[in-house]
Amino acid sequence: MIPHVQHFVHEATNTFSYVVREPDGPAAAIIDSVLDYDPAAGRSSTHFSDQLVQYVRDNDLKVEWILETHVHADHLSAAAYLKESLGGRVAASENVRDVQATFREIFNLHDFNADGSQFDHLFTDSEQFSIGSLKGSVISTPGHTSDSVSFLIGNAVFVGDTLFAPDKGTARTDFPGGSALALYESTQRLLALPGDTRVFLCHDYPGTARKFEPVHSVRDQRAHNIHVGAGSVADEFVRIRESRDATLGMPALILPAVQVNIRAGQLPGAEENGVSYLKIPLNLLGRAS
Ligand SMILES: [Fe+2]
Repeated sequence: MIPHVQHFVHEATNTFSYVVREPDGPAAAIIDSVLDYDPAAGRSSTHFSDQLVQYVRDNDLKVEWILETHVHADHLSAAAYLKESLGGRVAASENVRDVQATFREIFNLHDFNADGSQFDHLFTDSEQFSIGSLKGSVISTPGHTSDSVSFLIGNAVFVGDTLFAPDKGTARTDFPGGSALALYESTQRLLALPGDTRVFLCHDYPGTARKFEPVHSVRDQRAHNIHVGAGSVADEFVRIRESRDATLGMPALILPAVQVNIRAGQLPGAEENGVSYLKIPLNLLGRAS
């Protein structure tokens, strides 16, 4: 069965969010949603995710799942808001617990349990799930982060940051728990899928050279991906990836994003004055100059 996939582009963070739905029924899943966030003001907004809410309502869809491919570092998830608005179960990899433990320590979060309980469901590798009559399965694809998974739904696979567009290659692997070698092995798992499988990306960085392109076939990725396509070898990939990662600064939203995303898209609880706060660890992340 071939799912219908609607993409939405969040240009401020170069992110694609998706609504995946049955071809002939109301069942749907939302993948990698975005909560708008203005870091200067510390203000979040649902402007972008309301487009997804509107789409779901306009098409009388029934959201069964709100899926996260990993704990994102460059945007805040709107999963909690979408669940409140539309229903559905918020789910991620069981390995999200490792990422939660890492960031619980970095942010010194005494009141936070790194047990995945903030999510409604944690997937294991190869776990099967359904979206109405659509069949899905989970492919563990660590490397960019240790909790990265891809969701194979019919002939569509949602790969998070495990692959970028062929001309961009792959995502960085220098966050805590990342591994260039693991990423290479994960990309080869994805590129072993049938050639006509549609690969839906979480991000694109088209610059001014072209438009945002959310989807490429496995065949195109195999033939043209500049990092992991035909002729690539693991050792050389690891060398290229690690030397490039060594030049990258921290993503602009990593500090607010991970604090919200390890909570499955919920803001930290309000303090006694009714205000929620995020923390900033000083002189801990990034490189000393
Ligand atoms: Fe990411």
